[in-house]
Amino acid sequence: MTDAAAAERVAAAFADSFGQQSEGVWAAPGRVNVIGEHTDYNGGFVLPVALPHTIRAAVARRDDGLLVLASAQHLGARAEVAVADLEPGRPEGWAGYPAGVVHALAGRVPGGLSILVDGDVPSGAGLSSSAALSCSVALAVRDLLDLDLDADALIDVARRAENDFVGAPTGALDQSASVLCTAGHALFLDTRDGTREQVPLDLAAAGLALLVIDTGTTHDHAEGGYRDRRRECERAAERLGVDLLREIEDVAALDPLADGSDEGDVLLRRARHVVTEDARVLQVVATLRGDADPRVIGPVLTAGHESLRDDFEISVPLVDACVEAALAAGAHGARMVGGGFGGSVVALIEAGAADDITGAVTERFAREQHRAPRTFVVIPSAGARRLA
Ligand code: GLA
Repeated sequence: MTDAAAAERVAAAFADSFGQQSEGVWAAPGRVNVIGEHTDYNGGFVLPVALPHTIRAAVARRDDGLLVLASAQHLGARAEVAVADLEPGRPEGWAGYPAGVVHALAGRVPGGLSILVDGDVPSGAGLSSSAALSCSVALAVRDLLDLDLDADALIDVARRAENDFVGAPTGALDQSASVLCTAGHALFLDTRDGTREQVPLDLAAAGLALLVIDTGTTHDHAEGGYRDRRRECERAAERLGVDLLREIEDVAALDPLADGSDEGDVLLRRARHVVTEDARVLQVVATLRGDADPRVIGPVLTAGHESLRDDFEISVPLVDACVEAALAAGAHGARMVGGGFGGSVVALIEAGAADDITGAVTERFAREQHRAPRTFVVIPSAGARRLA
C-alpha cells in the first residue's frame, strides 16, 4: 500500500470512529535486525533495517482531558481514560503502548487526544509491531503539540512506554530502528553512545535478497525468558567488573566466569553470545562498506543463529527447523530475529530463490504438523514520518 493510500484509509477510519476529521496521520515501521541480537541492553552494536510494513496513527486534539484510543484491527475495542489518571498497566493490551507514550509525556499533553491506529506489521512475529505503534504515536503527539523532542528523545519516550508502562524490559533496538532507519540502508547503531551510520544496503544489485520467514509460533515464556537473559547478562558484567558486556572484546576475557559451577557455565555462555555477536555486527558492517561479495555475510548470520540457539538458548525447535530447511534449500545464511522463543527467521538468499526456499520451509513445517509460514522479501524502508 502506498503512503497516500494508507493515510487515506486511517483518516477515513478515524472519521468513522470519532465523527470528526483527524488533524494528521503519522506512520512508523516494524524492523528486521540483520545482525546484533540481544546486544542492545548490553551497550553493543545492532544493524536493523525498517520494513515497508507500518503502524499508522490518525490523531486529533480534544479539550476534555480524555485519551480515547481506537484501532482498525480491534474494532469496537475503544479505550478511554483521563490523561491525568494514566498509570502503568492500565489500559492493557495494544492500548497500553499509545497510553504509555502519553504517560511518558506527562504534563506536556494539555487537554486530551483522540487516536486511531491502523497497520500491517505482523504482530507476535518478532518484527516490532509494538515499537512501530509506540513510535507512530510519539511522533504524532510531538508534531501535533509542537513539543521540543529530537529523534533520541522520541526513541526514549517510546522505550519508556514499553519498559515503564507496559512492563516489557526491552532495550532500544526496536524504537531506534523505527525512528532512525532510512530507505535503502541498514542502520549501524552503537547503543552505548547512540553513534550511528546509515550503511547502504542494495542486495538486489548483487543478485541477493533478504527473506523474512514468520514461523507463526510464539511462546508464553518469551517475556520471562527475555527478562532472565537480561539479568544473566547484568550478572556476568558485574562478575567481570564491567558496566556493560560491550566493554569486553575478547572471549578469553570471559574465562573468570567459568568457576566450575552451573551458574558460572550459564553466565559464560550468555556473555560469549553477546561478545561474539558484537564482533559479528562489526564484521557484517565491514563487508557492506567494502566491495566484497555480500554472500560472505551468510555464514556470519548462521553463526549468529547457532550462538542464540546454543549459548543464549532462546531458539525453539520450529525456528531451528526453519533455519535448517532454508539453508538446505540454498540460503547463504539464516538466523532467528528479535527477542526469541519463536517469531521470525531472516535468510540471505539469491534474488530468485524466495519461492523455492518458502516451498522447502513449508514442506518441512508440514512434516512437523505446522501450518505454512508467511514470507516476504525485505525492502529496506523509511523510518517514522508524517503521512498527511
Ligand atoms: C526485542 C527487544 C529488543 C532487543 C531484541 C533482541 O526485540 O525489544 O530491545 O533486545 O529483542 O535483539
